Amino acid sequence: MCGIVGILGREPVAMRLVEALRRLEYRGYDSAGIAVLEDGTLKRVRAPGKLGQLMACLAERELKSTIGIGHTRWATHGVPTENNAHPHFAGRVAIVHNGIIENFKTLRASLEAEGIRPETDTDTEIVAHLINRRLGQGLSPLDAVQKTLEELEGAFAFVIMFEGEDDLLIGARRGSPLAVGHGEGEMYLGSDAIALAPFTSRVTYLEDGDLVVLTRNSLTLYDEQGRQTVRPLQFTQASALLVDKGNYRHFMAKEIAEQPAVVGHTMAEYLDFNVNRVTLPELPLDLAGLDRITITACGTAYYAGMVAKYWIEQLARIPVDVDVASEFRYREAPLKKGGFALVISQSGETADTLAALRYCKSMGQHVAAVVNVPESTIARESDVILRTYAGPEIGVASTKAFTCQLTVLAAFAIAMARARGTIDGDEETRLVQTMNRLPRLLVQALSQDSHIEEVAKKIAHARDILYLGRGINYPTALEGALKLKEISYIHAEGYAAGELKHGPIALIDEGVPVVVIAPRDGLFDKTVSNMEEVAARGAHIVLITDEEGARDHGQNTFETIAVPMSDPFIAPILYAIPVQLLAYHAAVFLGTDVDQPRNLAKSVTVE
Ligand code: G6P
Repeated sequence: MCGIVGILGREPVAMRLVEALRRLEYRGYDSAGIAVLEDGTLKRVRAPGKLGQLMACLAERELKSTIGIGHTRWATHGVPTENNAHPHFAGRVAIVHNGIIENFKTLRASLEAEGIRPETDTDTEIVAHLINRRLGQGLSPLDAVQKTLEELEGAFAFVIMFEGEDDLLIGARRGSPLAVGHGEGEMYLGSDAIALAPFTSRVTYLEDGDLVVLTRNSLTLYDEQGRQTVRPLQFTQASALLVDKGNYRHFMAKEIAEQPAVVGHTMAEYLDFNVNRVTLPELPLDLAGLDRITITACGTAYYAGMVAKYWIEQLARIPVDVDVASEFRYREAPLKKGGFALVISQSGETADTLAALRYCKSMGQHVAAVVNVPESTIARESDVILRTYAGPEIGVASTKAFTCQLTVLAAFAIAMARARGTIDGDEETRLVQTMNRLPRLLVQALSQDSHIEEVAKKIAHARDILYLGRGINYPTALEGALKLKEISYIHAEGYAAGELKHGPIALIDEGVPVVVIAPRDGLFDKTVSNMEEVAARGAHIVLITDEEGARDHGQNTFETIAVPMSDPFIAPILYAIPVQLLAYHAAVFLGTDVDQPRNLAKSVTVE
């Protein structure tokens, strides 16, 4: 979602702002802009579309200013035109914003009643007017911002610049993330540390409700109550080099290929292969004493949660509730005090998942977060972090974060089962050894790349594609369909294979591709029967199975993709690879914007 940056520098900032924005591109956006203070006056350059268009506009301008703010906009209020692009101006105020101001219509009406006519449809411009109105009443920039924030309802992170103030930026956050970067006689603000990495590795993360006043040589922080406060200075591991695609055509391809390594790194943190045991961080409660677990997440992370439900219920014999966070947060789920909740999030900033976490805490739950960004809000607000070691994931469609989430969740399920005595030490050893084989098996699965590319080309012109899976492979069907639709824009649906006859089979017609995910496990024969049912009705079956499944049932299919033989326990991790590659190659073949698909955002920081 929207990315925001600000620089108080010693050299011209225009190109540096664009450099920082480029590192926020992965969040998803549809227009961009920067504003600077040129010879004391506010100047801005904005453009719809990608940063290339902004660069083309900037090439016609010579901007020398050493202070500026910038923005990539994912439209919420108002279409993505140049006029609606940030930064927004009102009088002496320039502002960039990530989030949504929920009461903006009321605020807009009050401004209009005073004769102020906003130029755009955005909620953000209203905030600029409110601050400017306060300045007009004689308030200092700090007081004007503080008073304005009191009027706002909703989620936001702002960076604000003032005409006539060449050594001042104000940042504020409520709901959306914001970090301060410390330079040598320079200061920076950005939505995340990745944006600031070309300039500094010294970062201070704002807490929710914080406001920060920056000059080139100072930082003054205020908490939610307006009291001066301090936040720790941290050294971020985000590297200036990290946004490099290497030899890959897309970040997504690179991230798919990284999975053997990052799953391996993640396993190394949770599995001790010397003694074949799981080692979790210390939890604030006794796993053996729990009687249920609540899991919440969004998108791909939600599907990881669905897989975890199968693992935990089967191994640890404890009920697990899994909800999409946007529903969970309003469903008023009764939760027994002292219970345990897991939230799963790559970014650690997804607004609905964060709200679900806060709800769980308000209901007296111990909350653990499976999270990829350890400095994120969700990580900071959880009682325990079960970190994934996927490294920065830039492609909007999640791939390596998903398999790393599954790796952590598999380890958690084993630990839980051991704590509850539902598996013994021998079974733990067997499962840990099974996981130990994962990096090698993932490499083998990746070696099917060129075959999968050919399959993808054959199905890429379909209007609809169905994905079927059973049991623990049902979430893989959902994830496969999600991957395909988000990056190739082909309509795809995942179904539980047994549910087929209750409706989806009506969609089957001559030549409709049906991707069947069927490792040779206890449910294999049942899934194959469902496959035969759709094949008999003319569907083009793409069977994703293991070598034995391919040998026995791969002859009469349209295409068969063989994944190496493995224990069914790790199938959800292994079978993620072919469904990711299928979606990737279909999208490349169709020529879509694979890393930044239309309308999508990497980190969804609004409801
Ligand atoms: C967005 C992304 C998905 C991701 C979901 C949850 O929709 O496009 O790839 O799965 O958000 O994000 P999170 O950062 O919480 O895992």
